[in-house]
Amino acid sequence: MQALRGGAAGEGAAEAGSVPFLKGSALLLLGCLLARCCGAAGGGPRPGGVRAAGAAGSRRSALETFYARQLRLSPHVLGHSKAHVGRVVAELVRAAKAQGLQPGPLALSLRGDFVRIGSAYEQHKVRSPDCFDILVPLRLPPHLEPQPRRADGLGPHGAFVCGLRARAGWPRRYRPFAEGFCVELQGRSHLSSGLVLRWFQGHLQRCLGAVRYRLQERCRISLSACPGRLPTLHILPCSDYVCCHISMSVRLIPAIPLGDALYLTALPPEGPQAPPAPEALWGLNASRQEQRLLSWLKEQAPASSCHLKCLQILKGLRDLRRQGLEEPFCSQWGQVLSSYVLKTALFSLLLQGPLDAWDERFLVERLEDLVLYLRDCLRKQVLMHFFLGNASLPEAVALPRFLKEAAPVNLLAAFDGPTLDLAAFQLINTWFQAPHIIRMYSSPRYLRPALTPCRHVAEARQEPLGE
Ligand SMILES: *[C@@H]1O[C@H](CO)[C@@H](O)[C@H](O)[C@H]1NC(C)=O
Ligand SMILES: *[C@@H]1O[C@H](CO)[C@@H](O)[C@H](O)[C@H]1NC(C)=O
Repeated sequence: MQALRGGAAGEGAAEAGSVPFLKGSALLLLGCLLARCCGAAGGGPRPGGVRAAGAAGSRRSALETFYARQLRLSPHVLGHSKAHVGRVVAELVRAAKAQGLQPGPLALSLRGDFVRIGSAYEQHKVRSPDCFDILVPLRLPPHLEPQPRRADGLGPHGAFVCGLRARAGWPRRYRPFAEGFCVELQGRSHLSSGLVLRWFQGHLQRCLGAVRYRLQERCRISLSACPGRLPTLHILPCSDYVCCHISMSVRLIPAIPLGDALYLTALPPEGPQAPPAPEALWGLNASRQEQRLLSWLKEQAPASSCHLKCLQILKGLRDLRRQGLEEPFCSQWGQVLSSYVLKTALFSLLLQGPLDAWDERFLVERLEDLVLYLRDCLRKQVLMHFFLGNASLPEAVALPRFLKEAAPVNLLAAFDGPTLDLAAFQLINTWFQAPHIIRMYSSPRYLRPALTPCRHVAEARQEPLGE
């Protein structure tokens, strides 16, 4: 079972041989581009001829095999992992809610539920069901309401600040709360994501012992909490089923509910040279809206629609490609083509319709459309956030006014032109050479180390574990 591959051998293997390969690939790419231009000049979308048809067939089969052997998750294993994660997080949240202070003017507390988000819950996770993201909604003291505002000019694009409104003015009794959880900003008190995160980490840690004891038959759990990072729960099931021995990490993201399945998250928006986010900044997570959009699309599209498969294959190719790149571009590549960027491009393309065109038969064509669309975005240095400031969203995803009317956000704004140009070049290169890249990086030498270890694990590894 592919999903079970893992292990930690030979981390450095990826470097060797990458440079000559790059040179060769640039030449090959030129050839491909020339061939394409000539083909396109002939009028047809696809160069005709027996050779081209054969090449298209083998391209398709290389992509299909790549998908089946390396990317597709076994629903069975994914199901088991999700069940474990759900059970452990439910226990922890229940304990943390119970251990909260009595709700009062001083207290922040857990709302008591949790929200599963991210690719594992949107059917486009690849490789291994080993990392998960969960929002943990918090509750403000009674009579305090969050008042989100775009943090224009204060931080990276798309950041928010969270003002607070007391329904009956600011009585003196809120002062201890403000001292514990707020920072001054432009003369007003704002909820601080940094202080909330710190409280959340400590609070979970205090509850962990009881939960660990209760679950000891089922799994071993630990919690890593580094300053400024989201607490991450590590779960190692002790199950009889071989398939369930995948260790999982779960990022627990404290979130302030804004109503209608929208949350401010203590998760600074990612980007290059993002300053260590000031403690007042919050991210906005619309992933429930994304899930709604995805299920709406699923209803509208043909049953055999390949849009999620396209996204998975593109993520897979991106990750393979990364192995041949050198720093600093290697990290930029991953940031520019983040899963969120890929997903956003997919949304935009899907909604240009018609959805029938996404039938499984057209997998290669749609994947190529997606690659070319992204390439154009990179060249123009513009890919707009799909939800923020989009007044023409389908009605299935009802967004609150303040978001529809928010200024639109360019997801690529943080990157410089040369970086985006290089990414555009490498992207198209990766696509034209996909079969070659798949063959090259799928040799056992590259396969041994899990290709991209779970992002949460990778993050945790860089920092000392604070159990
Ligand atoms: C919301 O959170 C999920 C999980 O961390 C993440 O994948 C997604 O990019 C976030 N959405 C936004 C808009 O930040
Ligand atoms: C806004 O939503 C529409 C779908 O209704 C979509 O076609 C368009 O691409 C979106 N705009 C942006 C900037 O993503």
